Amino acid sequence: MTLDYAICGTRNSNIGLPTGLKILREGGNALDAVEESIKLIENNPYDITVGFNGFPNLLGIVELDASIMEGSTRNAGAVAAVKNFRHPISIARKVMEISPHVMLVGEGAERFAKALGYQEEDIIDELGIQNYHNIMDGKSLEMPIEAQELVRELFMRFDVHLKEVMENYSIKEWYRKLSFDKHGTTNVIALDNESNLAVGVSTSGIAMKFPGRVGDSPIFGAGIYCSDKAGSACTGTGELAIRLSTTRLVVDRVHRNIAIDKATEMGILELKQLKEQGVLHIISMDKSGQCAAFTNKDGLYHYYADSSMEDPEKRQSVFLKIQ
Ligand code: GLY
Repeated sequence: MTLDYAICGTRNSNIGLPTGLKILREGGNALDAVEESIKLIENNPYDITVGFNGFPNLLGIVELDASIMEGSTRNAGAVAAVKNFRHPISIARKVMEISPHVMLVGEGAERFAKALGYQEEDIIDELGIQNYHNIMDGKSLEMPIEAQELVRELFMRFDVHLKEVMENYSIKEWYRKLSFDKHGTTNVIALDNESNLAVGVSTSGIAMKFPGRVGDSPIFGAGIYCSDKAGSACTGTGELAIRLSTTRLVVDRVHRNIAIDKATEMGILELKQLKEQGVLHIISMDKSGQCAAFTNKDGLYHYYADSSMEDPEKRQSVFLKIQ
């Protein structure tokens, strides 16, 4: 069966995909379907991994990363470590469409957004602050009590305590555990009825990240990539996808005539090349609208819809145990 259009996204995308599907059904383009779907996810105050009320960094400040890429042109735009703007996906699209650059970070991205008329606002409310304190209270930190106390000090006095914490405790191991638990991000991939593919990603990154930490989500080739033949995006521990160039390799395999499911599966299997593990979930779609999703964490799922369907359906992602 030939599909006219299709859309897929990660587990939190059910809030946005119906809108993306409607745009595609009405003949809209893949970029609009991606952006509008993600804006709804960024708006959702109960999604604590994307946009408004996203996980704060160590200092309690929400810093957002987002990116968008069009397959037919390989045009791309991204922002990283952006504060006080609710829709980083829209700023990323403007970077792609009207700036001479591909990525803007921090203050520069914020100035760009402000100059374009995007509204600056507080993007954390009581619920988001409570989530921050729930992580800080130590219950999710599998560390000795004295280490938990020191890490809490680190949260509050980063500059004073960072060196001591890093010298005395396995902070990398702690972040590995935290990112296994406290990760999120949204990915949306759309194929429109002109056979254009587009991919978008938006995230607040790993909870309690160091200020200025940038994950895979705005890095083309790592957490996002799109060509005229396939699009691919990741959620999970961004450092893994950056080190493995995960999405560029998935798309490249499709260009070498490897089927989308095999190409995506191989992305997860490549985790074996790294000594430390975390979570990785890869979702991909090819130009025929076939979607594949693989992960090394059991129980993850995604949503998919195409022109033969009324609504997006929930699908289990394929779990591969990586030792
Ligand atoms: N995958 C999202 C992040 O690591 O920031």
